[in-house]
Amino acid sequence: MSELNKIVLKILSNGKGILATDESTGTMTKRLEAINVPSSSENRLLFRETLFSSEGVKNFIGGVILFDETIKQTSNLNKTIPELISSSGAVPGIKVDTGAKVLAGSHQEKITEGLDGLRERLKDYYKLGARFTKWRGVYNISNNYPSKLSIHSNAHALARYSALVQECGMVPIVEPEVLMDGNHSAEDCFNKTSKVIKKCFEELALHNIDLTGIILKPNMILAGTSSSEKISSEEVAKLTLKCLKENVPTEVPGIAFLSGGQTEIQATENLNLINKLNDTNFIMTYSYGRALQQSALKFWSKNIKDIKGTQEVFNHRANMCTLAAQGKWSAELETK
Ligand code: 13P
Repeated sequence: MSELNKIVLKILSNGKGILATDESTGTMTKRLEAINVPSSSENRLLFRETLFSSEGVKNFIGGVILFDETIKQTSNLNKTIPELISSSGAVPGIKVDTGAKVLAGSHQEKITEGLDGLRERLKDYYKLGARFTKWRGVYNISNNYPSKLSIHSNAHALARYSALVQECGMVPIVEPEVLMDGNHSAEDCFNKTSKVIKKCFEELALHNIDLTGIILKPNMILAGTSSSEKISSEEVAKLTLKCLKENVPTEVPGIAFLSGGQTEIQATENLNLINKLNDTNFIMTYSYGRALQQSALKFWSKNIKDIKGTQEVFNHRANMCTLAAQGKWSAELETK
């Protein structure tokens, strides 16, 4: 077993999932302003270290994705943030793209940037303790989109990023996110997500990526948020599994879904059904941002000194997601 494959399995085994706390300072500022908490670097650290030092991280989280600011911070418990995360048994990770910018040649779409100087930045992050990384390509659905250009150029960037990350001894999370926004059908989401994922693996092969040492982070197959189509969790699970079975090479050890704007309960219920119906060898777990943090953030905003209370809310959510990653979740457990 390769070192990279060992890292993947340490992060994803036994129902563990990934806590995505890699919001950029701009995004985190919006989240904090929405709950009337000033977005100072102290407050961003306080909320995040409250989660990192919880029982929830110890028991349910295999990896934590950090933002550049956070990986360089020292916690109030006198450990660096990567040390704090490692001491709970989880692997520290880092978002390394520099964001999605307007795609020249197709102005309604985005291309993710951050390849220039990446090799040097990766070495620094490795020294800081990171052992896995994230890069997110983003695609929107409408009649004409995603275009061939966006599918091709984002896949190319994801593959070049993955090659540099593996060269540096870390595991790349390959995240092609087809957004939920729009009035498209689930079938449209299925067809377009299939094309996006297929192209990503073509480019990964071209760049000689060791597929046993990556984690795929896809969206689930859903109808658009403003679509009138209502689709059951079972249908979401079936379409999602079909899409992945048809487009992901079997060497890939694990798939960790993003939540993408689903509610905490939807993201949990859908993951649970995916695991109940999973007839593949892929580990199917979570790499959630909002669907792990929303309730905890809301609770915390009422009293940012209530560490224990905030951790209890987070512990519950992480516990539910880990049950879902094993197909053992049920709605009754939410209120117990
Ligand atoms: P959400 O789960 O909130 O979609 O965030 C996951 C993520 O890391 C998006 O890049």
